[in-house]
Amino acid sequence: MEQMKVERFPEDFLWGSASAAYQIEGGYREGGKGMSNWDAFVRIPGKTYKGTTGDLAVDHYHRYLEDIRLMAEMGLKTYRFSIAWTRIYPEGRGEINQQGVDFYTAIIDECLRQHIEPMVTIYHWDLPQALVDAYGGWESPQVIDDFVAYAKTLFRLWGQKVKYWITLNEQNIFTSLGWLTAQHPPGKFDDQKMFYQVNHHAFMAHAKTVLAYREMGGKGNIGASFAYTPSYALDCRPMNAMAKCNYDDLKNYWWMDVYAYGRYPIAAMTYLKKKNIAPVIQDGDMEILKKAASEITFMGVNYYQSCVCEYNPMDGVTPYGEMNTTGVKGTAQVTGIPGIYKNPANPYLLTTDWDWSIDPMGLQFCCREITSRYGLPIVISENGLGAFDKLEADHRIHDDYRIAYLQHHLQALGEAIEEGCRVIAYCTWSFTDLLSWLNGYQKRYGFIYVDRDEEGGTLDRYKKDSYYWYQNVIQTNGESLYKLL
Ligand code: BG6
Repeated sequence: MEQMKVERFPEDFLWGSASAAYQIEGGYREGGKGMSNWDAFVRIPGKTYKGTTGDLAVDHYHRYLEDIRLMAEMGLKTYRFSIAWTRIYPEGRGEINQQGVDFYTAIIDECLRQHIEPMVTIYHWDLPQALVDAYGGWESPQVIDDFVAYAKTLFRLWGQKVKYWITLNEQNIFTSLGWLTAQHPPGKFDDQKMFYQVNHHAFMAHAKTVLAYREMGGKGNIGASFAYTPSYALDCRPMNAMAKCNYDDLKNYWWMDVYAYGRYPIAAMTYLKKKNIAPVIQDGDMEILKKAASEITFMGVNYYQSCVCEYNPMDGVTPYGEMNTTGVKGTAQVTGIPGIYKNPANPYLLTTDWDWSIDPMGLQFCCREITSRYGLPIVISENGLGAFDKLEADHRIHDDYRIAYLQHHLQALGEAIEEGCRVIAYCTWSFTDLLSWLNGYQKRYGFIYVDRDEEGGTLDRYKKDSYYWYQNVIQTNGESLYKLL
């Protein structure tokens, strides 16, 4: 809104940055760790960019102290990271692996020693392969109890030290890419019925975990992180406005309504029932989802881009168009659901080299929508720019494009706060460079440049210009965002 202008962020604002175990740790066979679905998937030829794996990643497993020291020097207030389930339970259940426990205890203790609030993601996509082999992983309702048992172990171990818990990272993405487009494990294509069933299992795992946390006396913050891509109708043609409405029900509210209200959007559920792809819901499930919804304390949002919605004819584009995983601009194809919607490019926005639209106002839009629809506090659990970076001869990295991206998004976030949205934390993606699942190591997100590429490297760490910029943002509690670049 025009008249709004924020000068400062709230005093206790958590300026943060994020990572995920598989993307940074490496040490995939060390410390008693078991095999995960990703350890197996990356070994299938053709699945990742140039066959890259997280076997070594950026070696955070051995360099976590150096990385946390860099965070402390920057002044980070919170660090969001995930626990690898396979380090705690190598087989997904059964015997606890003490070496895995010790590893994360060391990380949590070091964060606290450096006055960095640990924000723990319980699941960031790396499922124990043993559970896939035993009963199909997320495809079976058995996963729910195993997930909750694993989460309860984390609460028992670190419930006193960790005050921010994220149950699932981007349930909408790991299920879509896993069961619709075959790009993530288990690599299934167009298995729509199973896609919705798997999602129901994931919702139940999330909900029962939230309830277990409270039953165990957890008084901290808990919620899920959703990959929120807000939508704009292409124009005021009613068909296109309805395409947006359909998109929101099927692609956004399907997840957020369950987290926040414990119910599925009616029109979307009616559509799924007619198509015979609605999930099987057991007696009592909806009550559990509802109860858990009243116990979450925030909506976690991973925001990267917005999208445009347009009517898609029955013979129109499908969800299976090419994704840009190479960084060759213009190679992503338009996708959609025939008869429902499609997502053409937005002519008003610039894009990254991976064809993701750059839309700072979209972040403000997310916050406003969540505030109006759910009235929940918000944790921005990811936001950042994947780009090619160049290490100069003097070991500097001049990533002014990343600074501009983050600055504009933070200004938009400041406006949302000024408009009344309760935003608790903002985590950039990511702190160090890391493995970008399908895009190898060349798509960089970090404040810290890690000297490694698809073939290898020294793994030495170098501060990018954005590191110093964010340090200043934190020091001034956001005031520096309003000075000219
Ligand atoms: C989110 C994930 O989807 O976006 C991260 O939670 C991921 O794990 C990030 O790395 C950026 O996506 P990508 O595909 O560019 O790595």
